[in-house]
Amino acid sequence: SQQGVVVLGIFVADLAFMGDRMPKMGETIAGSGFKMGPGGKGSNQSVAAARAGAKVTFVSKIGRDAFGEIAQKTWAAEGIDARVGVSDVDPSGVAFIHVNDRTGENAIIVYAGAAGTISPADVDAVADAIRGARVFVTQLEQPVAAAQRGLEIARAAGVTTVFNPAPAEKFPDAIYPLCDFIVPNESEAAAIVGFELADLDAARRAGDVLLRKGVRNALITLGERGALLHGSDQSIHIPATAGGKVIDTAGAGDAFVGGFAAAIAEGMSAPAAVKFGCATAGISVTRRGTAPAMPLRAEIDSLLAG
Ligand code: RIB
Ligand code: NA
Repeated sequence: SQQGVVVLGIFVADLAFMGDRMPKMGETIAGSGFKMGPGGKGSNQSVAAARAGAKVTFVSKIGRDAFGEIAQKTWAAEGIDARVGVSDVDPSGVAFIHVNDRTGENAIIVYAGAAGTISPADVDAVADAIRGARVFVTQLEQPVAAAQRGLEIARAAGVTTVFNPAPAEKFPDAIYPLCDFIVPNESEAAAIVGFELADLDAARRAGDVLLRKGVRNALITLGERGALLHGSDQSIHIPATAGGKVIDTAGAGDAFVGGFAAAIAEGMSAPAAVKFGCATAGISVTRRGTAPAMPLRAEIDSLLAG
């Protein structure tokens, strides 16, 4: 991972059901399609960063089962260095995903399985890889204590830290000052600051709250409105880059984080890296699935070249 990106997070098998609505409790409805594929925010971000051109190390835990085999095949195919423990007791993670077949919107239940047992000691075991990276990335699907330890190791070594507080779970205040970039979406930011991000002005006020909590930069993703890069010296709104017709937004945030991290690892400026992340996400939403929808570097470059 020297000069590259280290991602700590989870892998799950995404079981995506297409349909025109969610079933109500006690109800069974027919779906209009199904797709199984590799998922989990950390693994998706690793795939996005690798396809965007970064050297990637992924740190996680899986089970010794069929979904775990899908995980290993995925990382091998993407050239990702997997520092992944295999549990004999806990299963690999799995996610139920409903994709609305008219709007492309999604709703997810995720179960981390073995990755739910990742401990600070597991992160200590890969401390050298984290220290050797340009960028360290983590989220909140695995235990928060593990995320915090990773951010501490990275920060102490001067590695750029990217924290994606997803899904919206509580986390200790001590994490904010460890973040070079905190990257929530609108609803995750709202959960932290306690008000809705109805417009850009509200997003800027949310960014101010995050700065006061100690982050160096708030990078708030705004869906089809792009992203807000909000630091103490600059506040820049970067519009979205449309890659085509939107059919499945699941994994769009992961595409953004992975693309952004790869661009920062390459030495791009933060605003250029945000634009690169937006293009990565803009292409991913035109394809079904999460990790399989991540674009290759050449596709991102050609979209950015217009
Ligand atoms: O961000 C999308 C991901 O979140 C999906 O791949 C699903 O597995 C959940 O973890
Ligand atoms: Na997608």
